[in-house]
Amino acid sequence: MAVSERTASEQVIADRERYVARGVATTPLVVARAEGARIWDVDGREYIDFAGGLGCQNTGHGFATAAIHEQVDRYLHQCFMVGMYEPYVEVCRLLDETWPGKAKTKSLLLNSGAEAVENAVKIARVATGRSAVIVFDHAFHGRTSLTMAMTAKVVPYKQGFGPFAPEVYRAPAPYPYRGVTSEDALVALSHLFKQDVHPEEVACVVLEPVQGEGGFIAMPEDFPPRLKEICERHGILYVDDEVQSGVGRTGPMWAIEYFGVEPDLMVAGKSLGGGLPLAAVTGRAELMDAVPPGGLGGTFGGNPIACAAAIPVLNEVRRDRFRERSAELGNRIRARLEDFVAQSHLLGEVRGLGPMLAIEFVEKTPELASRVTAAAREQGLVLLSCGIYGNVIRILVPLSIDDALLERGLDLLEESLGDASSA
Ligand SMILES: Cc1ncc(COP(=O)(O)O)c(C=O)c1O
Repeated sequence: MAVSERTASEQVIADRERYVARGVATTPLVVARAEGARIWDVDGREYIDFAGGLGCQNTGHGFATAAIHEQVDRYLHQCFMVGMYEPYVEVCRLLDETWPGKAKTKSLLLNSGAEAVENAVKIARVATGRSAVIVFDHAFHGRTSLTMAMTAKVVPYKQGFGPFAPEVYRAPAPYPYRGVTSEDALVALSHLFKQDVHPEEVACVVLEPVQGEGGFIAMPEDFPPRLKEICERHGILYVDDEVQSGVGRTGPMWAIEYFGVEPDLMVAGKSLGGGLPLAAVTGRAELMDAVPPGGLGGTFGGNPIACAAAIPVLNEVRRDRFRERSAELGNRIRARLEDFVAQSHLLGEVRGLGPMLAIEFVEKTPELASRVTAAAREQGLVLLSCGIYGNVIRILVPLSIDDALLERGLDLLEESLGDASSA
């Protein structure tokens, strides 16, 4: 085809294939503009967004642009280690105010979820003087060397990338739909302590309250409190990974609020920066301060523009109205998904917390879910799958969406499920 006959999308896709590394997986969507829960591609086609930039747009595309514009005109990068600035300190203050517990906290700001998880482990190791880390089945904590070792999916995240960081031990996580109870997981943890690592050598456990990439598996109500109790017994720190489940994704600021557990350290990312790269480690002040000056930081961590965006995001998500609306959205989405599951023997379970919801296919293979996401794109709906078998359809819709657009998106999802199942 002559270059001039290509659509604008085809042109970008061709250039992407020529210049961008194959290892960065992409869909054929080429974005020109986004607003709220809508995306337009470079050929002018409109999509409803059920992916939110992979969970980074809980408050909607464009929510923080006014704050960003204002900060752009003041100053851009400074490096907090060279010259400190108010937006960084203000984000840490807001993280303290929204902390899910009673402790006095301090925070460290970083660029990505993986970087924040790594730093939480560094802090836990220094604070406890111990080296081992316990992670769980179906976990996703990132793609850097340490977090890759902590992540529980070989293809595509780990295959060929070893050797992996030592002193990372994996325990089963509850997965009621596939028959793993809290009790099973805790018995397995006690075996791990007998067989592989002494609890007094463990610095921390790291757990997502709703496992994200692993398949939107919400922890049963009793699991985090029972795990916390074991941690307290052995002097192990509880690290709550809220990169995907936090900043309002499940309704409250942090998903751990559903479980009444106060973590020792917490990791946030994704929606925190309202679409700009920002992540944080927050924790009890004495743990955070265990690391001497210079041990934490980085050139870009807590960039002023990302911090300026995070301030209105945190203030919005902490409002009662945001939480109430998220609960409404959660009920609406859940009711529709339950209907889809009731109508199809191919669909197994609806699960999640608040509006962080997903459907798992009965079959442990990715084909059906990828047919659904492809059919959805054809219909004008941006949708993602997840799960270690790639057989889960997840919804990460911006929580600013109105009812009419949400219902339209859910109609498109229903049609896509129908198309994929009958193909
Ligand atoms: C729970 C969780 N932790 C950590 C990460 C890594 O975050 P990032 O991709 O920003 O490095 C992710 C990303 O999906 C995540 O979902």
